[in-house]
Amino acid sequence: MPVVKQKEKQLRAEIIDGRALAKTLRESIARHVAVLIEDHKILPGLAVVLIGDDPGSVIYVNNKKKAAVEVGIRSFVHHLPKNTSQDELLKLVQALNGEKKVHGILVQLPLPKQIDANTVLKTIDPAKDVDGLHIENIGRLMTGMPGLVPCTPLGCLALIKKVEKNLTGLHAVVIGRSNLVGKPVAQLLLRENCTVTVCHSRTPQLSHITRQADILVVAAGKAGLVKADWIKPGAIVIDIGINRTKAGGISGDVDFDDVSKVAGYITPVPGGVGPMTIACLLGNTVAAACRQNELTAPHIG
Ligand code: GUN
Repeated sequence: MPVVKQKEKQLRAEIIDGRALAKTLRESIARHVAVLIEDHKILPGLAVVLIGDDPGSVIYVNNKKKAAVEVGIRSFVHHLPKNTSQDELLKLVQALNGEKKVHGILVQLPLPKQIDANTVLKTIDPAKDVDGLHIENIGRLMTGMPGLVPCTPLGCLALIKKVEKNLTGLHAVVIGRSNLVGKPVAQLLLRENCTVTVCHSRTPQLSHITRQADILVVAAGKAGLVKADWIKPGAIVIDIGINRTKAGGISGDVDFDDVSKVAGYITPVPGGVGPMTIACLLGNTVAAACRQNELTAPHIG
């Protein structure tokens, strides 16, 4: 048997296609935007603020702008030099808070070292905080109140629910404890009645814990960290890692070929969580525009 065929035979996990799910989501969002414009004369607007020229951030911001425009959302990109002071950035955020055409504000992270991210994030109007990183929205997520939820965690949950609707009682293991991903994804899974274990770089015997996971979410920032022998057979594996390869591409934190032999479902990198993050950002922008106009935010999905 040719080598390629043998390899195909070994791959058992079903791939959760983030590109396809994100496309469905964007189509649904585009329909909601059309209704907002047609019936309510509201054109949702998203402001994205980028400081400096980090190549990764420039690509992310361009992708966000392009995706917004494609679903009919108006996009305002503010690209400031890397020596921008914290005061200048805060003034811009305050101006965007007061700008009626802007329903969502996203300040691309990381920020240059002269700027304190927490100070900036808490200056964003919580109603426009489409990143869900304002302390008020974090508190809302923690306490089960409605609010804006971070986009990558929302995208992860949608990917998991694509293959398993009822998560009650499942053991979810999250590797990573960042405010952007690890902590909010753990909260979302808790809200779905999972038993959640959060692991991080100081967790001993990581693979012993991951082998107990029905759902494994990996945001470790280490290429190929997770191997087949870390996985419970049949588990759902969500890879949030984005690591640059020497060849100029990107790879995840999960050793995809190896883990595919054991997992039940797996997200690829690229084409898994990434496209869902952007689709959820657009969904949050529409939800924010609705709530700011006292309209019921649609359930987009
Ligand atoms: N940098 C990398 N991912 C993100 C994100 O989801 N939001 C923001 N604001 N910055 C990021």
